[in-house]
Amino acid sequence: MSSEFHRPVLVREVCEALAPALVRAEAPVFVDATCGGAGHTLAVLAAYAEARPAGPKLRAIALDRDEEALAEARRKLPAEVELVHSSFGHLPEVLDAAGVTAATAILADLGVSSHQLDTGARGFSFQVDAPLDMRMDPSRGVPASQLLADISAGELTQVLRDYGEEPDAARIAAAIVAVRPKTTGVLAKVVAAAMSAPQRRKLGLRIHPATRTFQALRIRVNDELGELDRLLAAAPERLQVGGRLGIITFHSLEDRATKQRFAALTRAEQPPAGLPIAARDLPRPRFVVPGGYRQGAAPGDAEVAANPRSRSSRLRVLERALP
Ligand SMILES: C[S@@+](CC[C@H](N)C(=O)[O-])C[C@H]1O[C@@H](n2cnc3c(N)ncnc32)[C@H](O)[C@@H]1O
Repeated sequence: MSSEFHRPVLVREVCEALAPALVRAEAPVFVDATCGGAGHTLAVLAAYAEARPAGPKLRAIALDRDEEALAEARRKLPAEVELVHSSFGHLPEVLDAAGVTAATAILADLGVSSHQLDTGARGFSFQVDAPLDMRMDPSRGVPASQLLADISAGELTQVLRDYGEEPDAARIAAAIVAVRPKTTGVLAKVVAAAMSAPQRRKLGLRIHPATRTFQALRIRVNDELGELDRLLAAAPERLQVGGRLGIITFHSLEDRATKQRFAALTRAEQPPAGLPIAARDLPRPRFVVPGGYRQGAAPGDAEVAANPRSRSSRLRVLERALP
């Protein structure tokens, strides 16, 4: 296991994106929806203290569905930061329980932490043979081994296609249901043996043949896209006017969902055909993507060199517009 819990990505970009909201709020509230090892929370707290040394106190609420992450965060964060064991799909309930109607800044850094991947016993990795679990919150839901014990080849093919974009989905799914693996090592071997020679060649020596299958199962076991949809539905409505939502995505499925939701929220209404209404007389969209964030923010070369995991990351930002 690596000694570092998790190295956060796009830290400067996150602070720069959320600062304009935090520095102008009268009663600023920051919600880190994916606290992990608290790297982003600590950075945002420090950036706020520097930007507004005499400003109002920043209330910080950090949630994670993984209790190991919360234990790590508790060690690192000031006692007044409120930690909540919850998935961000329940953001409205978390905010209601905290008595927060609307937050000034909300951040979600999607996916798994290095700690989760590197802790072999959690069953996320094909590097170590361990029970096939893959739950970010092991106190809830069904482990990957149980999913593979019950799933049909057809449904598994769909999971591998939809969440792993796996070209060999059907043959890999057939091989998996023939064995119904219970450990990461067996699953990795079954996938490697089932993959067609052209696909193996395409992946080369550096990418393990089971990479896409592991990603697909992890997304399914943790209902990651369902969670993201619930967050994208609720979080914009729980922003203060001028408040900002930042989402860090790591793969095309997450990025597409986020981009499409932000586009729908920021689209200006068109005048109804044939009616003499000028576009300027229609209500303005309640949300905007702030200038400079149309394509999101991506890591620079230095960050990618220092932290290869950041390569595919992208920060997308949405702001609740002034009425
Ligand atoms: C990429 S890490 C975040 C790292 C964090 N930003 C940091 O600076 O250390 C993702 C974290 O989000 C948590 N997580 C993923 N999906 C979640 C969800 N739906 N609800 C709450 N936490 C979630 C994971 O358990 C993990 O700890």
